[in-house]
Amino acid sequence: MTTYFHHLSRCCAAVLLFTVQANAQQINIPIETNHNALVLQADAKMNLHSIYFGKKLANASDYEQVGGVYKQGDDYTGMQDAAYSASGSRNLFEPAISVTHADGNNSLDLRYVKHEVSKVDDNVSLLKVTLKDPVYAIEVTLFYKSFYKEDVMEQWCSIRHTEKGNVTLHKFASANLFIKGGSFWLNQYHGDWAKEMQPEESRLTHGIKTLDTKLGTRANLFQPSVFMVSMDRPATENEGTVLYGALEYSGNFRTDLELDHQDNLRITSGINNYASTYTLKSGELFTTPAFLYTLSSNGKGVASRNLHNWARNYKLLDGKGNRLTLLNNWEATYFDFDENKLSALLKDTKKLGVDMFLLDDGWFANKYPRNGDVAGLGDWEENKKKLPNGIAALVKEASSNGVKFGIWIEPEMVNPKSELYEKHPEWVVREPKREEHYFRNQLVLDLANPAVQDFVYGVVDDLFTKNPALAYIKWDCNAVIYNAHSAYLKNQSHFYIDYMRGLYKVLERIRAKYPKVPMMLCSGGGGRVDYGALQYFTEFWPSDNTDPLERIFLQWEYSYFYPAISSSNHVTDWGKQPIKFRTDVAMMGKLGFDIVVSHLAEKDLKFCQDAIQVYNGLKTIVWQGDQYRLSNPRSSDVASMLYMNAEKSSGVIFNYLVNNRYGTGSKLPIRMNGLDAGKKYRITEINLYPGTSSTIDGNKTYSGDFLMQVGFNPDVNSGRASVLLKIEEVK
Ligand code: DGJ
Repeated sequence: MTTYFHHLSRCCAAVLLFTVQANAQQINIPIETNHNALVLQADAKMNLHSIYFGKKLANASDYEQVGGVYKQGDDYTGMQDAAYSASGSRNLFEPAISVTHADGNNSLDLRYVKHEVSKVDDNVSLLKVTLKDPVYAIEVTLFYKSFYKEDVMEQWCSIRHTEKGNVTLHKFASANLFIKGGSFWLNQYHGDWAKEMQPEESRLTHGIKTLDTKLGTRANLFQPSVFMVSMDRPATENEGTVLYGALEYSGNFRTDLELDHQDNLRITSGINNYASTYTLKSGELFTTPAFLYTLSSNGKGVASRNLHNWARNYKLLDGKGNRLTLLNNWEATYFDFDENKLSALLKDTKKLGVDMFLLDDGWFANKYPRNGDVAGLGDWEENKKKLPNGIAALVKEASSNGVKFGIWIEPEMVNPKSELYEKHPEWVVREPKREEHYFRNQLVLDLANPAVQDFVYGVVDDLFTKNPALAYIKWDCNAVIYNAHSAYLKNQSHFYIDYMRGLYKVLERIRAKYPKVPMMLCSGGGGRVDYGALQYFTEFWPSDNTDPLERIFLQWEYSYFYPAISSSNHVTDWGKQPIKFRTDVAMMGKLGFDIVVSHLAEKDLKFCQDAIQVYNGLKTIVWQGDQYRLSNPRSSDVASMLYMNAEKSSGVIFNYLVNNRYGTGSKLPIRMNGLDAGKKYRITEINLYPGTSSTIDGNKTYSGDFLMQVGFNPDVNSGRASVLLKIEEVK
């Protein structure tokens, strides 16, 4: 029996159900997207295999022949290519799931029972495959949500049993993939504060390479879950086969990349089982977060545009919507401000020409005022000395200045020097009998506790209830979890998982009441950037490092996985580059400023004001356009990135000198991408600093073919270290 569910009728509610006939030989379940196919097969004994994952074949019947052309030796287990590997029976590899049954037995054997396909809409299908253990009353449902046009797949599972007693889950991955290839090249990321998204590429050797985190909150600080695997050779921007993967989860994750003795790659990804053995009651449903992936046979560019489209269409909150440009006061004032200072900043916001003023840390707490990062966190009443008339007066004043008002919070955290800590020590994640360890002088609140969930939700709800005109929230999260212990939970090994469930419950509640208020996902920089969280947030803060040179590299790496509209980029005083360079770099995503406007020289101010107008004119292309990385700062003296509209008629190209050695610059033309070869284009320089003129002849026209084959020279050099070009079709 073979089923092809992407050719279902256009009816959204269509559900096809397949159950096993007693004499069934084998069952093929192909999951096809625009260019790719993942084909599952239940054999005669109903073991579920993954028999193909790669570029779609022209004839669906050919998938069956794939296994026959590999001569890699015997599969001793009969389940090397299991669609979801269980442990304790024949499997000899890293399992996706590992359990102890109610009777103490450790074996699990999952067999196909049925599958069901439903169309979510014209583009999205959901396949559910039910697997059951023939001996024990335990069932696993595999979910495959496929996004046809975007070539993206989300895969997760749910686990349930009706055994007499509890089942212990030792491991509970979202998915495992089985991939064949000549060699595999992993591109992974590591980082720290102000050093997020540092890439590293290496060939996978036999054995297991694990990417994981055990930090609990701010979980990505040292390692995000995003990664790439190239097949046969490292993929480039436009060539090679490459898989992008990520777990949609904000807590501890674990991804194992296992190259087996026969050179097959098994990728197993899910919640990290570290210190998280889960006791599953009879009838209880355990649902994993989704493992997200996309596969491209044409290099990294296609893979990232797939993810950008998917994120804007389906995941990022309000991914197709508007965003607010802003002036933030963090680096302008730090904790040192009062109503008068803020009043002046509100006027500066208007003068600069951005949409909103964002009040950062330091506005709250009275018994232990928040005048530094050592006190006050958790006490969310306005500080009476700094703000005698409260937030309400500021929101009102912002509005009379014609700008919106946003505010910073960090509601998951507490300083030991706070009234909250004094009142509710039982709400704090800490080992009662041990010394407390602080990260940025603070501790984490126990979101596994429903009372804490109410408190955190209340922080946000109170702000909006008292200030309905509040336009924006920056949600920070600066500490990792030390001494992981919940005074609320009976079973401590549920802590990490229940913390995240608590966080998501709070975010769900916030979004149920305030569906679209923009919120920035911040975590002392990019300590929590993932698609699990981004369904509740409109944007993220990539890093506290706003040195524009560093940012070119940081934003470059984020751009592989996240669309520009989600990246909050602020112009600050970090770095040695002039204001034009800093502003151009920040314009590559969602533009903001964190500078003292009144300290700007006259021409600098004029430049910023004009730049905001330029940005308003091209932001739709930056936010919704297709992104093409043209020249990589890691391998060239010049970084170049193009954003092009869907019609291929209008775009913007950002170019920077990233090496200041003598005589460096754009000696060679930069080859364009994503243009229409048959169209004619004009390229003009924009966003010039007052009093300077362009060296680019904006009267010339070039064919798309020429620009993509030969290229264009932005004339980047030490005197023109940042060059912004507008490219437009000439009819
Ligand atoms: C860390 C954030 O990344 C900064 O932007 C700022 O909001 C500070 N926290 C405030 O404490």
